Amino acid sequence: MTEITRTFAETRQRGRGRVGLVPTMGFFHEGHSALMAAARAASETVVVSLFVNPLQFNDRADLERYPRDLDRDLEIAREQGVDLLFVPPAEEMYPLEPLTRVEVARVADHLEGPRRPGHFAGVATVVAKLFAGLQPDFAFFGRKDAQQLAVVRRLVLDLSFPVTVIGRPTLREADGLALSSRNVYLRPDDRPQALLLSMGLFAAADLAEAGHFEASELIAAVRRVGSGEDFEYVTLASQDTAQPIDRIDRPSFLALAARIGSVRLIDNVAFDLVAGNVIGDRGIRLSAPSRLYS
Ligand code: PAJ
Repeated sequence: MTEITRTFAETRQRGRGRVGLVPTMGFFHEGHSALMAAARAASETVVVSLFVNPLQFNDRADLERYPRDLDRDLEIAREQGVDLLFVPPAEEMYPLEPLTRVEVARVADHLEGPRRPGHFAGVATVVAKLFAGLQPDFAFFGRKDAQQLAVVRRLVLDLSFPVTVIGRPTLREADGLALSSRNVYLRPDDRPQALLLSMGLFAAADLAEAGHFEASELIAAVRRVGSGEDFEYVTLASQDTAQPIDRIDRPSFLALAARIGSVRLIDNVAFDLVAGNVIGDRGIRLSAPSRLYS
């Protein structure tokens, strides 16, 4: 039985045993469900936080049109066996105008950072508040947002939060498009173009697994498949620092951002080193249409 909680204190007090937290902004899709399932498997109490965090939106219009549907989200949380859906009102999250920011330097310098000024400070601040206020043992994040994951891992190290951060693979639609709440704003005509993003990343992953580790070669492959795309960047970066690197010589990810119609999409493949081999994490594909559309 999933219960909705509204305050940090109440949510914390209801936690029994090991607490697994999944921070979200709601409008759940299978990517969120997969994080909830991972939390369920690892914890006695699963807490999902749902807060559309104004601090991390640098574009007001984007904040206002962010999709919201609490009834739908509660139903999905129930299906995943979530214990507590923490939905704080703005006054609980920010009782006064917040004057403190958590800034993770360097990790936020490239990729999304410069294109969304203040975004990662907004994310890091709200995640630090969730860790401090809810005191979870584990926290689950998607590799879809690889730079965000790097920011969170580093803030946990730098500020000594006693939480274990777990990154999980990207869930994709059946055609390969990475799931995002924003996909509901793609027009049917935009779909073929959106598809080329993941296709390019998969082509680069094939190259990397065949021993082509140079960033320039991998980036060229993505740009070739997606010729005609409005890319904001295609970059190979370190998983730890999100700094650009020239070749896959450590755990890394090949990330891109592109505008498709009115929607800005991001995607990546992670490169992990397994027993000396480079393995591309292409994520997990759904076999049926996402419930985003039903
Ligand atoms: P939101 O976009 O709701 O995402 C919540 C979590 O779901 C994040 O960890 C994100 O990486 C993960 N996620 C999103 N799409 C995914 C996909 N296709 N596959 C797997 N995981 C996916 O990210 C945020 O919210 C916010 O920035 C937050 C961390 C909650 C701070 O406000």
